[in-house]
Parts: sequence; C-alpha cells; structure tokens
Amino acid sequence: MSNIEASKKLAAYTAVDRHVKPEHRIIGIGSGSTVPYVVERIVQQGEEANKGRVFIPTGFQSKELIVSSKLALGDVDEYPTIDVTLDGADEVDYQLNCVKGGGACHLREKVLAEAANTFILVADYRKNVQYLGTNFVQGVPIEVVPFAYAKVLQNLHHILGSPNAVLRMAVKKAGPVVTDNGNFIIDAPFPREKMLDPYIIMAQIKMLTGVVEVGLFCRMAKAAYFGNEDGTVTVR
Ligand code: 5RP
Repeated sequence: MSNIEASKKLAAYTAVDRHVKPEHRIIGIGSGSTVPYVVERIVQQGEEANKGRVFIPTGFQSKELIVSSKLALGDVDEYPTIDVTLDGADEVDYQLNCVKGGGACHLREKVLAEAANTFILVADYRKNVQYLGTNFVQGVPIEVVPFAYAKVLQNLHHILGSPNAVLRMAVKKAGPVVTDNGNFIIDAPFPREKMLDPYIIMAQIKMLTGVVEVGLFCRMAKAAYFGNEDGTVTVR
C-alpha cells in the first residue's frame, strides 16, 4: 500500500473509531477514494453494531459501497436527520472550510453534511492547508443546470476578473461530465485573496441564476482527520 493510501486509511479508521458510536443509527457515507476505508472500518464494528443502522449515500459510488458491504441502504428524503456523516475533501483549511466536488457529488454531499448532527472530514495529509486553493489547482466545483452553463461561465468570469472557469469534460473529452442529478460541473479557480474568507465567494456564486450548488463547505465540519506519512493523524 502506498503512503498516500495508508494515510487515507489511517484518517478514516481514526475518525470512525472516534465518531461512529454504538447509539448512532443513521449514518451518512460520502464519496471519493478515502470513504471505502470509512465503510471498511464500520463493517469491522461487527454485525451486531450495524443491525438496525441505516446508511445514506451521497451518490452512485457510496450507494454501491453500502450495498456491496451488506449494510442497509436509506435515503435522505426518508431520514432528513443523520447522526453522523463522514466524507472526503479536496482541501480543508485551518478554519475547517473545505473544497469538495472533485468527484462531482458535492450537491448531495452538502445535503448530507447539513442533515448531520456531526459532519466529519477524512483525508490524506495533502489536503491539509492553511488556505483553500493551495494545492487543489482545478478550483472550486460548481454544479449548474445544463442550459445555463454558458451564462454562469460568463458571470463567473466577471466575478473572477479573468476567463479561467471551465466546463468539466469527461475523460477523452467525450462531452461534459454529468452529475448524478443530470447537471454539469464548472471548475472555477479563484485567486488566493478570495479564499481568505470563502463564505463570501460561496454566497456570491450561489446567487448566480442556474447554479445548483457550490463545492465550498464553510464551517460545516465538526472535525477533520488527516493521515500523515509518518503514521500519525492530524486532527483539526
Ligand atoms: C467528491 C468529493 C470527494 O470527497 C473529494 O473529491 C475527495 O476525494 P478523495 O478522498 O478521493 O481525495 O468531494 O465529490
């Protein structure tokens, strides 16, 4: 296992051990490559612990993960209050603001984060940054309704002052990436100064007509766990 993979596993296992408690019945499962370790550790809590629990996915990947792990599947429309949601992140700053949506799931991820009494982030050490935009060069993912994407791009260029935002294309540029909700994704890189208080830019983007959700999660997480290369875990 590579150092990065080991770091993801360490973060996920530590977070589950601290935050998925015997009394928790409704559990949100996020998306990305760190989340399988979350589910792996939850399964290790045993059949007795997982009996009567319901797991809510943030998208196709986590749904498959829940089903293939033989855990009970639910949906957020049935369970609008979740005990704890655990999810990955593309970057997390020292105030626990984060960028999400690298996997184009941030709309459902934000609904599950908001529904959760406790929202926990798990990631490897590369995601632990003082300011958003340090390593994640693709920028902030923005889910938009397809027919409005060109207008949103134009408006983003006004906000950004430069035409850097792009429509996310599928591998081999076969066409735009389409989300689980049938929408497109725009990736908008922002200058560092705009990320000092990401809440302001998040609110500005959310006001644009045609925008469904922004991959900026401001002050939603209770804690973030980062696995480090030396086998330690940084907790914020
Ligand atoms: C998907 C996400 C993921 O949680 C984020 O991209 C992190 O993924 P990984 O754990 O693979 O680095 O927001 O929309």
